[in-house]
Amino acid sequence: MRVAVVGSGYVGLVTGACFADVGHEVILVDNDANKLASLQNGDVPIHEKFLPELLERHRGGRIKFSGDLLSATQQSDAVFIAVGTPPTEHGDADLSYVESVAHEISAGIKRYKVIVEKSTVPVYTSQWIRTILTRNGADPAQFDVVSNPEFLREGTAVTDFLYPDRIVVGVESEKAAEVMRELYAPLTSGWYYGRADSIPAPEPAKVPPRLIITSTKSAELIKHASNAFLAMKISFMNAVASICESVGANVEQVKDGIGSDSRIGPKFLNPGIGYGGSCFPKDLMAFRAVAKENGYDFRLLEEVIRINEEQRHRFMRKARSVLWTFRGKRIGVLGLAFKGGTDDIRESPAMLLVQDLLREGCHICAYDPAAIERSKEVLKTGVEFAKDAYQTAKGADALMILTEWEEFASLDLERLRSLMKFPIILDGRNLYDPTVMAQHGFTYHSIGRASVPAEVARLEKKLERA
Ligand SMILES: NC(=O)c1ccc[n+]([C@@H]2O[C@H](COP(=O)([O-])OP(=O)(O)OC[C@H]3O[C@@H](n4cnc5c(N)ncnc54)[C@H](O)[C@@H]3O)[C@@H](O)[C@H]2O)c1
Repeated sequence: MRVAVVGSGYVGLVTGACFADVGHEVILVDNDANKLASLQNGDVPIHEKFLPELLERHRGGRIKFSGDLLSATQQSDAVFIAVGTPPTEHGDADLSYVESVAHEISAGIKRYKVIVEKSTVPVYTSQWIRTILTRNGADPAQFDVVSNPEFLREGTAVTDFLYPDRIVVGVESEKAAEVMRELYAPLTSGWYYGRADSIPAPEPAKVPPRLIITSTKSAELIKHASNAFLAMKISFMNAVASICESVGANVEQVKDGIGSDSRIGPKFLNPGIGYGGSCFPKDLMAFRAVAKENGYDFRLLEEVIRINEEQRHRFMRKARSVLWTFRGKRIGVLGLAFKGGTDDIRESPAMLLVQDLLREGCHICAYDPAAIERSKEVLKTGVEFAKDAYQTAKGADALMILTEWEEFASLDLERLRSLMKFPIILDGRNLYDPTVMAQHGFTYHSIGRASVPAEVARLEKKLERA
């Protein structure tokens, strides 16, 4: 099929590349001339596993890049809208980018096509898109608006798209449902997974995925409710971690006990410095706003947001209790991205903490495997960027682990300690075992777990050897 994807960001680029890989002809559209030029030059503007391979495989073949939205619309059977939906100052979603795309494509609808919301949007958006298209002259018989929310996670976006838990499609007509079934048939029929050159499956992947057909309103709600539920799990665990700290329990043990219940599951129960990124914070606010507009005061979401913010403040208080004063201290920072595996720093708790530390007068030496270039655009002064984790440790009064990159979980601890001025680690992601850290001579503080005094750790090591 011929597919236009409007917006070549994290979602649009991955959607376009994956649709091309399953056999469709894709035109990726963006109105950012620099981004288009770099994509046309063969650059990959975001850090995402398997994306460079897919773009390389299909660039100039099944994938074309264009700034001409009207022509891309005319040529396509399906137009995916994957532009940003940032929050307004009131917390609801700013849908002006979506509206502007709907306006622009209306003149290109001359034969039947589906217009697909891929962006995360509040309930009723599909109706608005329909109104805008019709208002601007599109014949209502020549299009349907479909909601097809995207559940990919940055860092594993390509495999999330190709090996999804489910595909949700919200439609108001059988004709639109048929187009969407055909688009996803390479995945839902299992054909893609039998191919020799398919992108390898993550562990565990349940294939083929289920296609869930709903009304457009239900599909819109499924996306907001899913993100709100996941954020709630994180905040719940962070609240439990705070109680663990008060009573001297170990949150990792508690997490294991809770997560082993199949009704709860182990995912999204990692305590830390809070969720971030371009989705959870804005989607929670938007969901709360849309609920309110429709007569429901969703206070639970307010509490989820409050716990999340408090988590960062708790971490700062913990740092203060260890370091006493901040001014002039040299802090090594491991991780700037909002989570491991991505270069995205939008609403990153790590970035917010670094900014707090800078305001307190700390000197920061930071390292991130992928997010340094983006961070430099935001952290213009007071931050030194290191080439690896060990360089951040050099002469540091303390080291903070703020993003759960895999490489931060397997550092050479002896080397790290030998480089630091004081062997103090504040781990906001619980990547290490407190006893092991104490055995290596670190004063180690994490989330929801007591720190182990060095003498106890040494005794435990002695007993282990005996
Ligand atoms: N990032 C994620 O992990 C994720 C996951 C699921 C859903 N979503 C949702 O998908 C949507 C897009 O998110 P993203 O992270 O890809 O955003 P992004 O900011 O990375 O990308 C948006 C792109 O749209 C382009 N754009 C804006 N207006 C345009 C127009 N009129 N014509 C053509 N291009 C235009 C921008 O230049 C940009 O390249 C959002 O609604 C987001 O909530 C994001």
